[in-house]
Amino acid sequence: FAGLDQGRLQAAPAPRPAEAAPAVTVLFGSQTGNAERLARSLRSRLTEAGFDARAVSMDSYKTAELKRERCLIVVVSTYGEGEPPDGAKAFHEWLLGKRAPQLAGLRYAVLALGDSSYEYFCKTGRDFDERLASLGAAPLLARVDCDLDYEETATAWADGLLASLGRSDTAGARSPVVAAPAEASPAYSKQRPFPARLLENIRLTGRGSSKEVRHIELSLADSGLSYEPGDALGVVPRNWPERVDQLIAALGFSAEAAVPGADGVDVALRQALLGDYEITTLTRPFLQKYAELCGSADLTELLKPENRTALRDFVYGREILDVVRDYPTPGMAPERFVGLLRKLPPRLYSIASSQRADPDEVHLTVGVVRYRSHGLARQGVASAFLADRVAEGETVPVYVHSNPHFRLPSDPNAPIVMVGPGTGVAPFRAFMAEREALGAAGRNWLFFGDRNFDSDFLYQREWLEYRRSGLLTRLDVAFSRDDESRVYVQQRMLEHSRLLYAWLEEGAYFYVCGDAERMAPDVHEALLAVVRKEGGQGNGSAEDYVQQLHAAKRYQRDVY
Ligand code: 2AM
Repeated sequence: FAGLDQGRLQAAPAPRPAEAAPAVTVLFGSQTGNAERLARSLRSRLTEAGFDARAVSMDSYKTAELKRERCLIVVVSTYGEGEPPDGAKAFHEWLLGKRAPQLAGLRYAVLALGDSSYEYFCKTGRDFDERLASLGAAPLLARVDCDLDYEETATAWADGLLASLGRSDTAGARSPVVAAPAEASPAYSKQRPFPARLLENIRLTGRGSSKEVRHIELSLADSGLSYEPGDALGVVPRNWPERVDQLIAALGFSAEAAVPGADGVDVALRQALLGDYEITTLTRPFLQKYAELCGSADLTELLKPENRTALRDFVYGREILDVVRDYPTPGMAPERFVGLLRKLPPRLYSIASSQRADPDEVHLTVGVVRYRSHGLARQGVASAFLADRVAEGETVPVYVHSNPHFRLPSDPNAPIVMVGPGTGVAPFRAFMAEREALGAAGRNWLFFGDRNFDSDFLYQREWLEYRRSGLLTRLDVAFSRDDESRVYVQQRMLEHSRLLYAWLEEGAYFYVCGDAERMAPDVHEALLAVVRKEGGQGNGSAEDYVQQLHAAKRYQRDVY
């Protein structure tokens, strides 16, 4: 295709001059691994189609190479308030900043991942797209913004990309961009989840607690599934039957009306709403299509770009049911309504067990979401499903979501520091069980925090037992609602700054799991403060120190 040196499109080209970049660079920024997986399988497709392609993470990409790229494919996700994944932040900032070069000879394409229930849906992908264009690069094809059910959209986009690159590998069967290599693919996967029997469902938080956290044990017997500490479990939930029935009643539909299910085959409406579609979250795309159907001037007004804040206030604490009740659409057909919905996405939970200790089991620590708003009882789709609607002996469809960026040190003697307030403690229970089963000699330090000592000390007995046995070298806890002091884990870090710094100097790995919005940034600040204070380092060098920890994979986060 135009702009590319044809000689370098061959599968086995003459050795490249050392300074030349490969013909196609697939650059990814990934938090949970979805963008990375897509990028790597896209690279395989490109290679199979005869391109000289490589996949590179944004955090290991050398920005000096950008000027030499001919063809750049960006696969990137968006988090929270429109932010890039951790590993993409520096590159994103650099590219959008004034040091980015002109890119007139470059052709590019962007695949954006996100969640349309967020206001800044796919913003990072849009940033890259707009910035590359403004630097003079030419798009190979239009950017595509994928929602949580990204697989089909991503595959179609990759097909389009291959086609626009001038060579199509679609001569045979369409090979989905998300497919794993056949020889490595386990029998059970996201596409084919394993029905895992529920063994235990125990409330961890005490009666007086403001929270409901449950310990869930599932059987993986005969599944062939394996996981590492740090991995997550994908859970395929079913919607709340009460909510489904309220929705059907509000719409005036028959529960038996035939509608296309998630796989395109007709099923009864009630079945589709129970298991196939997301029926709660109000996304902008849903509201846009719904507003057109019902012709409400109010809704249309709310969706204008200048009314972002009003829309955010409106959506807060509301669901699809509230909109259907308040803005009726007489005459809408059931399949029309179903056509507005996105597929019910699976939910990921950090695994709280070690397969080395419990070979046939997987454990989760589930914070159950329940609240009231706008006169209705609400609940989290997957958390309440696990808490309320799976009886012992019944099964839950699950799959293993590998999380290679959250791993115990390969050296069993390396010390580790774990910061996991609330349900963020889950993977550290897996870490400790694994290290115990391994007989790993490395020291282990846990910072745990929650609201009240009496009711919220998750897995208290196990931690105390590990303290007694010596496996847990230190346990520092912060209970934020036991008195007026409102103490958090990061305060404990600062109180023990000297020891914490000594551990880091001795090669400790530092792990953080839990709330991404407030806790993780505060813990990051505390880490910088510890290094500044104890290392006698100024701002810049403390940043460098922490950056080096990160680069050495000794600072790992699993935050959401
Ligand atoms: P809070 O609910 O009393 O505000 C687990 O959720 C624990 O994390 C709770 O004790 C919670 O306190 C605390 N927490 C809330 N915000 C935090 C923050 N920014 N940093 C650390 N911990 C926080």
